[in-house]
Amino acid sequence: MSTWANLGLQDSASPLMEQLIFFHDHALLILVMITVLVGYLMFMLFFNNYINRFLLHGQLIEMIWTILPAIILLFIAFPSLRLLYLLDEINEPSVTLKSIGHQWYWSYEYSDFNNVEFDSYMIPTNEIANDGFRLLDVDNRIVLPMNSQIRILVTAADVIHSWTIPALGVKVDGTPGRLNQTNFFINRPGLFYGQCSEICGANHSFMPIVIESVPVNYFIQWISNNLNS
Ligand code: CUA
Repeated sequence: MSTWANLGLQDSASPLMEQLIFFHDHALLILVMITVLVGYLMFMLFFNNYINRFLLHGQLIEMIWTILPAIILLFIAFPSLRLLYLLDEINEPSVTLKSIGHQWYWSYEYSDFNNVEFDSYMIPTNEIANDGFRLLDVDNRIVLPMNSQIRILVTAADVIHSWTIPALGVKVDGTPGRLNQTNFFINRPGLFYGQCSEICGANHSFMPIVIESVPVNYFIQWISNNLNS
C-alpha cells in the first residue's frame, strides 16, 4: 500500500510488477541521459560566439542525429515488447477469480469452488476501525493463496470499471458484455490494496479492492468454511 511521501511505485509483490519496475527504471535512465545531454547543449548555446557564413548543410551530422535516436528507441521498444508478451502469458493457473464491477462496488466469484460469491463494499469513513485505512478498506476481502498462479476474469455489470492492484502489476478494464483475463502470482503474504481506475461515475473513488494473501492451507480453510455456509 502507498503511504505518505511515496511518490514512486509501490514495492512489488509479484514477479510481473518486479519486471515492470525494472523496465520503468531502464526507461527513466535513458530519459535522464537524453535530458541531460540536450539540456547541456541548449545551455551552452547561450555562450556560443562562433558564426560561419558559409555553413549551409552537414550531411554527416544529419545522418548521425537522425539514426542515433532511432537506435536509442529500439533499446526501449524491445524490452517493452518483451514485457507486453510476458504480461499476456497465462501459466496454468491454480485458482480463478472472477471480479465484476458495479456502480459502485466490486463483486467476486470463485468459480472453481462451487461459485462462492460475495460483494465487496468500501467501509464508510464514520464506520472505519482505528487501525483501518480510510477510503481503502472493504467489508469483504478477497482471500487468495500466495505462491500460486492466479487467473482473474474481469467484467462489469453497468459501466466500464478497472480492476487495479499496483503492488501486483495488475490493471484490467471491466467492460459490460466482455470478459477480460489476466494472471498474477503473489510472492508474499499480506494485504494488497487497489482502486478502480476507470472513471465510472460519481462514486468512482469509493470502490477499493483488498486482497488478503495467505498461505495455501489457510486459503483452503477459508474457502471450505465459505462452502459450508
Ligand atoms: Cu469503478 Cu471507477
